Amino acid sequence: MVYSIGHVRLKNRFILAPMAGITDIAFRVLCRRYGAALVCSEMVNPIALIRENREAVRKASVCTEEKPVAVQLFGADARLLAKAASIVEKKGADIIDLNLGCPDIKVRKQGAGSALLKHPDRIRSIIRAMVKAVGIPVTAKIRIQDSNSDLHVAEAVQSAGAAAIAVHARTSSQMYSGKADLEAVRNVKENVSVPVIGNGDVQSRQDAEDMFRATGCDFVMVGRAAMGNPAIFAELQGNKVIPKHQMFAQYLELAEKCGCIDKARLKVHSCNFTKGLKGSARLRQRITSSNTVEDIKECLCFRSF
Ligand SMILES: Cc1cc2nc3c(=O)[nH]c(=O)nc-3n(C[C@H](O)[C@H](O)[C@H](O)COP(=O)(O)O)c2cc1C
Repeated sequence: MVYSIGHVRLKNRFILAPMAGITDIAFRVLCRRYGAALVCSEMVNPIALIRENREAVRKASVCTEEKPVAVQLFGADARLLAKAASIVEKKGADIIDLNLGCPDIKVRKQGAGSALLKHPDRIRSIIRAMVKAVGIPVTAKIRIQDSNSDLHVAEAVQSAGAAAIAVHARTSSQMYSGKADLEAVRNVKENVSVPVIGNGDVQSRQDAEDMFRATGCDFVMVGRAAMGNPAIFAELQGNKVIPKHQMFAQYLELAEKCGCIDKARLKVHSCNFTKGLKGSARLRQRITSSNTVEDIKECLCFRSF
């Protein structure tokens, strides 16, 4: 079976969620290797990208092995987002996603992220401008509000020409607490014709089946369950579970190859990848007190397991 978002073909129905500080190139390649049909970058600030800020350029960069890949932008200015979308397209992204769900106060203060959910007309103008600026599909990732508002937002997204809509089934004020509201995803799915991506609390094959069955969504997006466990995408498709330390060794190798190793990021990843492993509390303590990337790598020889 072949699935698609716009003209982009996907080999299955499982997508890696955008996660700031987590979904760097190396991590995304690993998720693709383990079976994610589509991966997504961390959110990128369009102004920083247009100014060629190093960090923004790194976040918006993609490589051949991870394709198809989506790059996510956040912001509130249609002109800047359209310009940034065109840069992202030139850098090789297959899909551009607009963040309409970030609950972070700094992002909301700019009128971006979940602050836009209160303004379907602004959403429509922004997406229209982005769609006009590029030849690749534009998608949007929203959070839920109430059923009426969700439909207004979904209608704005669809009528502006977006190729799909991802629904994180929590409100902005819930942040990450409470249970994902599958009924809200179903409400959106029943009222749009573009593919809907259900997101929230999928941690197992059963959760994914529940999401598909309860909502009728076309794709399932996985966030936190992939942190430290890119092989979740193999598990979701009934394939073999991989030892976590093997995955971390692969991450390190890829991160070195892609030039995306940095100390803070490596600490976060190493803590995620070692969570639940025998003897890992001591290892994490050593990692957190390490001063250099080399020190961290030395801790991770896994001799202590
Ligand atoms: C560490 C972290 C960073 C995140 N960063 C982003 C982001 O940059 N853009 C975005 O749209 N969502 C972001 N999210 C939200 C996730 O994409 C996803 O919607 C959320 O985690 C719910 O899915 P889950 O229950 O599978 O984790 C982030 C979540 C986490 C945990």
